[in-house]
Amino acid sequence: MIRTTFLSTGMRVPDRVVTNDDLASIMDTTDEWIRQRSGIEERRWVEEGEAGSDLGCAASEMALDRAGLEAADVDCIIVATLSPDHFFPGTGVFMQRKLGVSDVPCLDVRNQCSGFLYGLSVADAWIRVGQYRRVLLVGTEVHSTGLHRNDAGRDTAVLFGDGAGAVLLEGREVDESDETAAGLLSVHIHADGRHAEKLWVEVPGSKYDPLITHEHIDAGLTRPMMEGREVFKHATSRMPEAVREALDANGLTIDDIDLLIPHQANLRISQMVQRALGLTDDRVYNNIQRYGNTTAASIPIALHESLDEGRLSPGGLLCLTAFGSGFTWGSALIRW
Ligand code: UT7
Repeated sequence: MIRTTFLSTGMRVPDRVVTNDDLASIMDTTDEWIRQRSGIEERRWVEEGEAGSDLGCAASEMALDRAGLEAADVDCIIVATLSPDHFFPGTGVFMQRKLGVSDVPCLDVRNQCSGFLYGLSVADAWIRVGQYRRVLLVGTEVHSTGLHRNDAGRDTAVLFGDGAGAVLLEGREVDESDETAAGLLSVHIHADGRHAEKLWVEVPGSKYDPLITHEHIDAGLTRPMMEGREVFKHATSRMPEAVREALDANGLTIDDIDLLIPHQANLRISQMVQRALGLTDDRVYNNIQRYGNTTAASIPIALHESLDEGRLSPGGLLCLTAFGSGFTWGSALIRW
């Protein structure tokens, strides 16, 4: 049978570091409030003209370089982002052009914080049916330009950051009975649209004619709106649930997990997920302190850094889980 394996990872965050004190100088907030509520100490923001496709491209080039491959060796590009360079076409084609390849299919995935897992699910299905052998999967976000960096937007402006992470996936033939064979064991994804407006950006939207007006802007409808407590409540129950679902599907238990990478939404959320699962600190990876919430990019960035820090050895069991706007959520299990 064919199993999806991880060849390499890459990441890119903008050079510009924005500390909590920097934010406190432009809006009514404090370093203490942000650290206490979210664990975030700093995040990165792009410089003018730096796009999500640029970050995604740099992360992809790092992943390609580490695998000893070139962009031309990739059969398909999947880009997860909630902050595309433009309304259309998707960020994938801009990345493809910057990578210098043509006639490679590009799919944009719009599933916010769960975008990386949704993209992984599609990539895995394509790889296992033999449609594509090598898939470049990227999560890239530029939040800073969409945040309302003022008192009215402080509840979300302090949480989100810019960045990109990439993984190179390849189908490999494995013996079905070999339980130790490296690769993706499963991906489970979910959604519940009843909560769509609990974390969203309403405008611009083609539902309106025209899709954006001065009145919309004046009413603050272009601002990310979040019912923080509701998101928090659902995130802390859905992620442990999704991890257990993944373990059950593979006949494994929590004791088998060597490293859990939760989507980096809030350090308090990650700590509650860790507690709910009874995992020790050395078995959970967090880096939200340095990057804030980079939505679709948070898992591949954290995966890249955890590998570089030697947190996962060959043969180890890696678990990914995410929750976010939609609501959408999911989990993946990977034998490393
Ligand atoms: O990937 C999914 C993305 N989102 C999330 O995962 C977010 C989930 N939610 C959360 O992480 C938390 O709900 C937050 C960190 C966003 C907020 O923490 P909270 O403990 O739920 O605070 P709150 O929203 O209930 O607000 C408490 C107070 C309010 O003031 P009053 O009404 O008590 O006077 C807010 O106006 O904190 C105020 N506040 C702030 N104060 C200083 C809101 N934002 C800020 C801020 N600085 N940036």
